[in-house]
Amino acid sequence: MRVVAFHGSPRVDGNTEILLKETLRAISESSCETQLFMLNCMNIKPCQDCGGCEKTGICIVSDDMNEISRAIREADRIVLASPIFFFGLSAQAKIMIDRCQAFWCEKYLLKKPIPAGPHGRKGLLLLVGGMKKEIGIQCAEATAAAFFRTISIPEHRTLSFLGVDAKGAILEHPEALKGAFEAGKDLVKIG
Ligand SMILES: Cc1cc2nc3c(=O)[nH]c(=O)nc-3n(C[C@H](O)[C@H](O)[C@H](O)COP(=O)(O)O)c2cc1C
Repeated sequence: MRVVAFHGSPRVDGNTEILLKETLRAISESSCETQLFMLNCMNIKPCQDCGGCEKTGICIVSDDMNEISRAIREADRIVLASPIFFFGLSAQAKIMIDRCQAFWCEKYLLKKPIPAGPHGRKGLLLLVGGMKKEIGIQCAEATAAAFFRTISIPEHRTLSFLGVDAKGAILEHPEALKGAFEAGKDLVKIG
């Protein structure tokens, strides 16, 4: 089983990263092949809405998104982890998602969804917000759901934590770490 994970926070060793690493630690106990993309360190140009992907489903912009697109296509499981920034996903996550417009064209215009492997395609969304307002989670969830649908991930689970602001504050929430670990185990469970 191939697992592809996206880390959407710019903060090194921050709350999202700690949570994501717990999920990946659980996954590493299985025989899955895992690929982690640290989006903040990658060269991904925002979607230019040039229409270049409409007839082919292939983006004509060449950058680090080439490798990500390949990984998304071959994945059985996708993990998207992001902090809540301004009531939504981080810019790092959103830039990558917008570039999935090429997959949208492939699926909806060319009628070619990404085929699932023997274990199906499933997703996991991890969100951390500093405030206690649910609206950030709701907006991020809506965008992430559109992302998962576009890349032919028909089901995903969401784990979100609010009121976690200072760097590393998630460590004071053992139930969050436990939840992230168990969600990782669950994600790659067969059957
Ligand atoms: C630019 C920016 C915007 C933010 N906007 C929100 C927000 O709208 N809602 C919220 O709950 N937290 C917001 N926060 C707080 C972060 O979600 C919070 O600090 C989170 O723990 C960061 O996760 P990280 O350590 O993985 O980067 C914002 C933080 C930054 C830097």
